[in-house]
Amino acid sequence: MSEKLAGTTAIITGAAGGIGAATAKRFAREGAALVVADKDGPGAERIAREIAAGGGRAIAVPADVCDPAQLDAMLAEAKGAFGRIRVLVNNAGQGVQVHFLETMMEIWRTMIDNNLTGTFLCSQVVAHHMAQEGGGRIVNIASHSGLLGSSGRAAYAAAKGGIIAMTRVMAVDLAEHNITVNCIAPGPIDVPRIRNTQTEERQKAWHAAVPLGRYGEPDEIAGVALFLASDDAGYVNGQTLAVDGGFTAAGLRVKRI
Ligand SMILES: NC(=O)c1ccc[n+]([C@@H]2O[C@H](COP(=O)([O-])OP(=O)(O)OC[C@H]3O[C@@H](n4cnc5c(N)ncnc54)[C@H](O)[C@@H]3O)[C@@H](O)[C@H]2O)c1
Repeated sequence: MSEKLAGTTAIITGAAGGIGAATAKRFAREGAALVVADKDGPGAERIAREIAAGGGRAIAVPADVCDPAQLDAMLAEAKGAFGRIRVLVNNAGQGVQVHFLETMMEIWRTMIDNNLTGTFLCSQVVAHHMAQEGGGRIVNIASHSGLLGSSGRAAYAAAKGGIIAMTRVMAVDLAEHNITVNCIAPGPIDVPRIRNTQTEERQKAWHAAVPLGRYGEPDEIAGVALFLASDDAGYVNGQTLAVDGGFTAAGLRVKRI
């Protein structure tokens, strides 16, 4: 079977764990050389070692997506190791659950910086390179929180909604450089961070709200990122795909009598 990303190099941010690590491993299995970028340097090293142990090619680069100098250094290291970078997955991000009235400026700035500004900065640095090299693919990771209302998510939802809006503009502006830009809005995904912090009651509430009745697996986001990064998605541009078991489609769900 042919590998979907053979001969390709991908940078994945926030790839030390969760969805980013699953995506890095999936891309490596499909033949890509990986730049595992994360502000958690030792975590990124661990994932790069796991990929190499499985026969893949990967380097770890410690990089905070909020810091332009670190992003310049990341791109330089990536080019030095693998040459042309064809795919960027802007996965780095973090959430918070806090009532609107208690959303202090520091929380607001942290959410906007780590999710929205980081995606902007990283995309701009890598897109300059992609434009010089004849094109590429950018996949942004937003959230169902950027599509629907919810409680306690004003700053996070604003950041993720901003990523969805920015995706459309990036797609239009970068099309002339043969760069496509798309976005995934994951629903609740079973990553260790969530498994370790959510109460059983909260997990049951999520199961009840999702038509498929379960959390998604990180690999189910990785599979969609793979599609958007592959030749199969050559004419898909500026789109946001909710990968959420039907959560955003559902609205009020009344049990069948
Ligand atoms: N898990 C879910 O249910 C879910 C749902 C919707 C959206 N998302 C989004 O998916 C993405 C991955 O989430 P996850 O659940 O795998 O989380 P995670 O916490 O397991 O992984 C996030 C990674 O991003 C890194 N990171 C955070 N800020 C960074 C920064 N400024 N620079 C570099 N690295 C940074 C962290 O170190 C971590 O390794 C995030 O953007 C998140 O908002 C997750």
